[in-house]
Order: sequence, then C-alpha cells, then structure tokens
Amino acid sequence: MTLIALGVSSSVSIYKSCEIIRRLQDRKVQVQVIMTRNASRLISPLLFSALSGQEVIVDPFEDKQSAKIAHVALAKDISLLVVAPATANIIGKFAGGIADDFLSTFYTAVKCPVLIAPAMNEAMYLHRQTQQNIRKLKELGVKFVEPEAGYLACKETGWGRLAPPDKIVEEGLRLIQKSQSFKGQTVLVTAGPTREFLDPVRFITNRSTGKMGYELAEEALRRGAEVILVSGPTHLFPPPDAKLRKVQTAEDMKKEVLEHFSKADVVIMTAAVSDFKFEESASGKIKKEKLGGNIKIVPTPDVLKELGRKKGQKVLVGFAAETEKVVDNALKKLKDKNLDLIIANDVTAEGVGFESNFNQVSVVFPDGKSVQTEKMTKVEISQVIMNKIEEIVGKKSG
Ligand code: CTP
Repeated sequence: MTLIALGVSSSVSIYKSCEIIRRLQDRKVQVQVIMTRNASRLISPLLFSALSGQEVIVDPFEDKQSAKIAHVALAKDISLLVVAPATANIIGKFAGGIADDFLSTFYTAVKCPVLIAPAMNEAMYLHRQTQQNIRKLKELGVKFVEPEAGYLACKETGWGRLAPPDKIVEEGLRLIQKSQSFKGQTVLVTAGPTREFLDPVRFITNRSTGKMGYELAEEALRRGAEVILVSGPTHLFPPPDAKLRKVQTAEDMKKEVLEHFSKADVVIMTAAVSDFKFEESASGKIKKEKLGGNIKIVPTPDVLKELGRKKGQKVLVGFAAETEKVVDNALKKLKDKNLDLIIANDVTAEGVGFESNFNQVSVVFPDGKSVQTEKMTKVEISQVIMNKIEEIVGKKSG
C-alpha cells in the first residue's frame, strides 16, 4: 500500500486536513500525519490518529514516547510528502533549510516529491518574502497547489485560502504517478563543458556551466530513473543519487558515455562538447617564446553522432547551441545524428542559457515540428523536456 506523509501546520483551515486524509484513504493510500506543535494546539492529534489509524507525530524532540520514530527511516518509506495547510512559517523554514522541529527536519530528509498547499492571510501570502520563499522551493523542485481567493479567517476576502482538498489529493496522486514514470529505466545525462588541454595550464573550453544537464538529471531521478551523470568540470553539487562520472576532455566523455551506453534506455546529451582540440598536448607548461604561430587544432570525436549510429531502441536527445536559424539548424543536427528529439537554444538571447538559471528553448521533433517554451527556470524546462521524452518512450514501448 502506498504510504504518504501529511504535514499539518497551524492554519484555521486545519480542519480540511481531515478531508484530505479521508480522500486519500478512498484512493487506497495510507497516511502518516505529522503535526507542528502549534497545529496540535488547534486540533488534538487524537482526532488525526483516529482518522488515519496511525499514531500522529507531533514533536518527538520533546515527546519521549514518539522519539523512537526515526525520521530518516520514515522518509525512505513514503512516496510523497504533502504539507496542507502550510503556513508562511513552515514554508520559510523549508526554504531556509531550518530544521528545528520534526516536520522541518523531516523535509530535509525526504527524497520523494513534496507538495505544499499554502494557507494564510492575503498580506502574508503576497508578501515578497513569502513569494521569494515559494519561488526558491519551486526552483528546488517542490510543487505547490496555489491557494484560492475567498473568505479568510481574518474576516477579509482575498488570496490565501487553502485549495480544495480534492485538488490537493489529485495533484498529490499525480505526483506519485509521475515519480514512478521512469522506474526501471536508466537515463544517461551528459553535462557541462569539456576542456581540451594545450599544456597543464591552458585549454579550450566554452561557457557551459552544466546547470541544464544537472537539472535534467534531478528531474529524471524524481521520476524514478537510475541516472548516470557524465559531467565536465562544473561548480555544481551533483544530485546525490546519480552515479557521477567526472570527465575533462571530449575523448574522456566519449569513453565514459560508450562504457555506460548499453545500460541506458535514454541518453540526453546536454554537454557542450568542445569541437576542437590541440593536435598535441604537452605534459609541461610551454614557454610563450616556443608557442610561435603554429598551434594545430584538430576535430574531437562527435560523441552523439556515434551514439546515433548504434542507438537501436534507445531514445537519443541532443541539444543545439545556435545563433541563427535556430530551429532549422537544430533539425539538421537531429537528422545528422539520428536523434529522437533536439532542444535548441538561441545562445544570443539575453538573460537565458549560459550562466543563467533561466532558459527558453525550442523543442524540435524529427518531423520538423517544433514548440517554443516561454522563458522559464531550468527546473521548469527540465520538466517540459522530460515530459516530451516520456511521450517518446511510451510510443516506442508500444
Ligand atoms: N556533441 C557531441 N560531440 C561533439 C559535439 C557535440 O556529442 N564533439 C553533441 C552535443 O552534446 C549536443 C549536440 O551534439 O547534444 C549538438 O552540439 P552542438 O555543439 O550544438 O553542435 P555541433 O554538432 O558541435 O555543431 P556546430 O558546433 O557546428 O553547431
């Protein structure tokens, strides 16, 4: 039976959490309720225990009886954490990484999807600090069921009313299903630039930071895939559950990718692989007077093109960095490299792409059709791309 954790914080709409428990049970989902201490002052945990059939966790840091409950163990067992209602306080704690009670500590331990349904007074909800916290959590992949406008406990009407229980439950179930959509599949992602060395000090590289690839790796993990991340040099923290392979040069990248290719069901090449390298790479630093004008540059192997030749039933996705005729050029690459999908970036566009948290891309299909996204965070773009890949995988497997 699917187990989810329902975090309950202290909003007047707390009574609606009872309805959420019931609706989840109707859908054969077992619910472990976690209340904040203030929430337990509004409604007795006994009511939630009776409804859920499980002892409610309030704050085992203070309560010796339930101190036995290991948050790390529970975090591994659940398929989803829903917080409904979520106050400005708990949202702020999650966004700030503060872990000073069970619910906020638990949040830092979960790896499954997290869904938050805020409920508060309109001024608090629209406050720039609250909105900044929400944005930050969204960038980390947390999902929200936005509150609605209506009559609020403070006897005002406005934004901030908890979304209807039905809507929260449906969104939660959708997330659980999404989190398993790549179960049993291996996704190989490449990310970042490569470095082609002239000597131990000097190299050719490019402006890629690896962000798009790391976000795609995260998103594939969130959907239940085994992820192999072959990464050029970046300053990013790798997703802890990905199998990370660090590389420097295009040749290294080719070697690692080919080594893992047979296991992969999907390959996403976001890496900005250098197209050129020095014909010779010296083991010691070359003195400038010896450099002269005759440094020879030769092509590197095209990793993706090689994969295209041996792809079989695998799904191959490429990226295209373009400065003109973006979709046309991307489509040529898709055909040339035998891909299922190519994501085209106009690298001259302001405020997106290289070194940015934002991107705007065209998703180009083999039949020449393309869809341009809005300017979105790279987290959101990675969701759009994974949705398209999911459709292609679905079609291929019949
Ligand atoms: N790619 C690769 N090996 C290379 C160069 C590129 O595997 N040596 C992959 C990239 O990871 C990307 C796709 O091919 O998914 C397209 O890369 P891009 O640099 O846009 O195009 P190129 O094929 O290198 O062509 P050009 O630089 O001339 O636009």
